[in-house]
Amino acid sequence: MDKMLTIADLKRKAERRVPRMFFDYADSGAWTESTYRANEDDFAKIKLRQRVLVDMTDRSLATEMIGEKVSMPVALSPTGLTGMQHADGEMLAAKAAEEFGVPFTLSTMSICSIEDVASVTSKPFWFQLYVMKDRDFVNNLIDRAKAAGCSALVLTLDLQILGQRHKDLRNGLSAPPKFTPKHIWQMATRPKWCLDMARTKRRSFGNIVGHAKNVSDLSSLPSWTAEQFDPRLSWKDVEWIKERWGGKLILKGILDEEDARASLDTGADAIIVSNHGGRQLDGAHSSIAMLPKIVDAVGDRVEVHMDGGIRSGQDVLKAVALGAKGTYIGRPFLYGLGADGKQGVTTALEIIRKEMDVSMALCGKRLIRDVDRSILA
Ligand code: GLV
Repeated sequence: MDKMLTIADLKRKAERRVPRMFFDYADSGAWTESTYRANEDDFAKIKLRQRVLVDMTDRSLATEMIGEKVSMPVALSPTGLTGMQHADGEMLAAKAAEEFGVPFTLSTMSICSIEDVASVTSKPFWFQLYVMKDRDFVNNLIDRAKAAGCSALVLTLDLQILGQRHKDLRNGLSAPPKFTPKHIWQMATRPKWCLDMARTKRRSFGNIVGHAKNVSDLSSLPSWTAEQFDPRLSWKDVEWIKERWGGKLILKGILDEEDARASLDTGADAIIVSNHGGRQLDGAHSSIAMLPKIVDAVGDRVEVHMDGGIRSGQDVLKAVALGAKGTYIGRPFLYGLGADGKQGVTTALEIIRKEMDVSMALCGKRLIRDVDRSILA
């Protein structure tokens, strides 16, 4: 059996196990993918300071995100179509995250529903909201997340219209897949995926099917987004959403200092510095490049989190050093899920934990809570 030592190992295995269109969906950025690449490349440019002869015993990565205890400052990102990387993917990933002691965030565009995930977990998870034109449906989603005991609402701000991902259009991405010769071939070459998928009934958008009215073509993400997502979403909307929700609120998709300052008026508990994994505005700066500027702009008036480009524990350490109180991984856990189901998600988290722990020690720190810009060279 291959030994999975890095996130790249999991990615290679996922590519062999997951039908091309779904692997590509996770592994794609908008247009030229320059921002997708910058997210990773800019992490590599940041250097750590090697320190010696300091006590390395009793290390801890434990900390808090929005007041919740986490075993390390890494949450699972809300990712669309996760249940297409592996049958029942969201339920498996949520269980892996719960056992590991990190937050799981369920996407609005998930395959397993809010209720499905609640049925297999015992601790609260987080729910990510896209705002649709149909406000009854949005209110209903918020209420369902509340009823399921979700402990935070993650409101995505940067995908009211969809950035074009060429691979998805070329692959004819849909959920469930269409039965054209090309798609049948993509699935037939992944027999284990097919077998697992045949055993579940969850093959479409679980939060939406049976809940939203007037949905004509749900299977294609671009047409569904164009038809349903509300392009008029504004700062004013954050107010009623916050009020309806009544709990912890996280704003996702802040990449500009001015927007970060504006977010302070909303009373949100945290903001996520994010460019949606390079899947939206191609040509935007990487998240890690913008993180310190945004941290400086808001100070400690709101908790700052970040996502985009994290492929190792060293990357998490660098983000924490630059002021992130928490980080999120999307593709790394999807690769784990595609490679090995729930165990693969756990493996992805273990890889990141080990890299972070050892690197933190070699930077001369024992507690992640004490990590700051002084560990950067
Ligand atoms: C949805 O969140 C996507 O980026 O595809």
